[in-house]
Amino acid sequence: MKAMICTKYGSPDVLMLKEVSIPTPKDNEVLVKVHASTVTAGDIRVRTFNSPVLLWIPMRIVLGFTKPRNPILGVELAGEIVSIGKKVKRFKKGDQIFALTGMKLGAHAEYTCISENGLMTIKPVNVSYEEAASVLYGATTALYFLRKGNIQEGKKVLIYGASGTVGTFAVQLAKQFGAEVTGVSSTANLEMVQALGADQVIDYTKEDFINRGNTYDIIFDAVGKKSKSNCKQALASNGSYVTVDGQGIAKVLMNDINYLADLLERRKIHSVIDRYYSIEELAEAHRYVEEGHKKGNVVIKVTHDESRC
Ligand SMILES: NC(=O)c1ccc[n+]([C@@H]2O[C@H](COP(=O)([O-])OP(=O)(O)OC[C@H]3O[C@@H](n4cnc5c(N)ncnc54)[C@H](OP(=O)(O)O)[C@@H]3O)[C@@H](O)[C@H]2O)c1
Repeated sequence: MKAMICTKYGSPDVLMLKEVSIPTPKDNEVLVKVHASTVTAGDIRVRTFNSPVLLWIPMRIVLGFTKPRNPILGVELAGEIVSIGKKVKRFKKGDQIFALTGMKLGAHAEYTCISENGLMTIKPVNVSYEEAASVLYGATTALYFLRKGNIQEGKKVLIYGASGTVGTFAVQLAKQFGAEVTGVSSTANLEMVQALGADQVIDYTKEDFINRGNTYDIIFDAVGKKSKSNCKQALASNGSYVTVDGQGIAKVLMNDINYLADLLERRKIHSVIDRYYSIEELAEAHRYVEEGHKKGNVVIKVTHDESRC
């Protein structure tokens, strides 16, 4: 099968398309024919080994010392199960699924193996592979931090960086909780953020939300650009400040995946897709995502040479 291999930590040039063997699922695993994946900020962090100094050694232990231990990156995917291990009960051959592989990576290939107990569920039939592939990384992160901020109906929530992967889901999910949402983005993305459900929008290129005199019950920095001290004067008393940067890694449970799959099926949330690339164009996709200005998600389409299987 073809797979994009990260040969060492470095620039997008370290990504090489190679022929490797199709993996064999263990007893508790399924083999997934991948139809779509994404390039996320997580992939960029792994490839560049962009780690805070204090986490340098633990991260090298987790990811691999000189290069990623799993050289096939890609933290989320959608595809079809083509074979199952002999102990697998939850899934069967032919199931269309979407999954978050997270730190296990492995999505940038024609096939990958996933534990049946992994963060994987059936893809709603009314949602494309491309859209389903681009939901879980952003939406699970947004859900985790909104809950950490104690999101509740009627609360005033400000989402800073409302136009990125995490931000676009944070706006939609905060509305699902019944919050009053203010989204902060640049001029070009204001309309999109409003269309996602934000009650108010603020253009960060024109004004700093801090200076408006408004206060919020939750300020969620979904892009890691505003410190707590930066936001203090806009926080209500007993308000919460949460950020994707420096408050640990979002914990994800299977219940969260099921909750998001249900919202997706009922079209209560959707994925904003900025660009599509083929797997052969993965380095190009990395370059674009690394610029830090994508709107929502960048999807990788994976095609298969059927004559080889
Ligand atoms: N802790 C965790 O568990 C966890 C999990 C997932 C992600 N993360 C982290 O979360 C961060 C965001 O990830 P992401 O994938 O959502 O990022 P992303 O999609 O790459 O963010 C890009 C978006 O951010 C906006 N942006 C850039 N600079 C901005 C600024 N100064 N003010 C406001 N908006 C700005 C851009 O809009 P403009 O073009 O309009 O500027 C663009 O739409 C990353 O650092 C990632 O590593 C953490």
